[in-house]
Amino acid sequence: MKNSYICNCSKPNFKNNYSYWEDRSSTSDEKEIIHHLKKNINLENKKILHVGIGNSYFAQVILNKNIVFGISVSSHEIFKANNLNLDNYKVYLCDKFSTNFYDLFHNQKFDIIVDNNIKSYSCCKMSYYYFIDNLFKMLNDNGILITSRKGMNWYKNIVPKLSFNFKKLFHYKLKEISGNSENIMSLEEAKFISDKYSLNLNFNEKICLFEK
Ligand SMILES: C[S@@+](CC[C@H](N)C(=O)[O-])C[C@H]1O[C@@H](n2cnc3c(N)ncnc32)[C@H](O)[C@@H]1O
Repeated sequence: MKNSYICNCSKPNFKNNYSYWEDRSSTSDEKEIIHHLKKNINLENKKILHVGIGNSYFAQVILNKNIVFGISVSSHEIFKANNLNLDNYKVYLCDKFSTNFYDLFHNQKFDIIVDNNIKSYSCCKMSYYYFIDNLFKMLNDNGILITSRKGMNWYKNIVPKLSFNFKKLFHYKLKEISGNSENIMSLEEAKFISDKYSLNLNFNEKICLFEK
């Protein structure tokens, strides 16, 4: 079954079998977030949501007496994540802009939410605001949502493209194409969001943190 949306923008059917970031290296954005979390936050007994699991490096280094939920639009990333057989790592093929994301998590609260590309891939303002409204409501009291300053400036669209390599033979992968520069998330916008949801905003040159 396809994802459903509150907007009419055309999108790939992410329920199809797409490869994306499963064999690529983690971004420096994600590594900076991991560094910040490990250095500054007690991660024990925390319920964590990772939006955009990529190659699952995040879960591999963060899992320790905690639980990580992850989502991705690539079934190959999900397949890789499940094959790691990590305890307390639960992953879902789910588009964060869809109503399916709400259905999946609306009755859950997370202590830590990580999304290094909050706005990067959004199709329109309506779905973007719908997503962040859902996201911030999933934040536990005293919870934090952490993103990357580099990721805030990144904006791409992803489209399926038939591709070939000797490992995967013919397959569809999600290819990045140029996106909408309105998907740059400025610090002013981060401040606006933190006011709207009554959060404290902290940032340095690498990360941006919303605290409840
Ligand atoms: C550029 S990759 C980064 C992967 C990893 N977070 C890292 O930094 O190395 C973007 C990730 O976001 C996921 N993603 C992109 N659009 C998404 C959406 N609308 N909903 C959920 N995940 C999405 C992709 O599946 C992929 O895991």
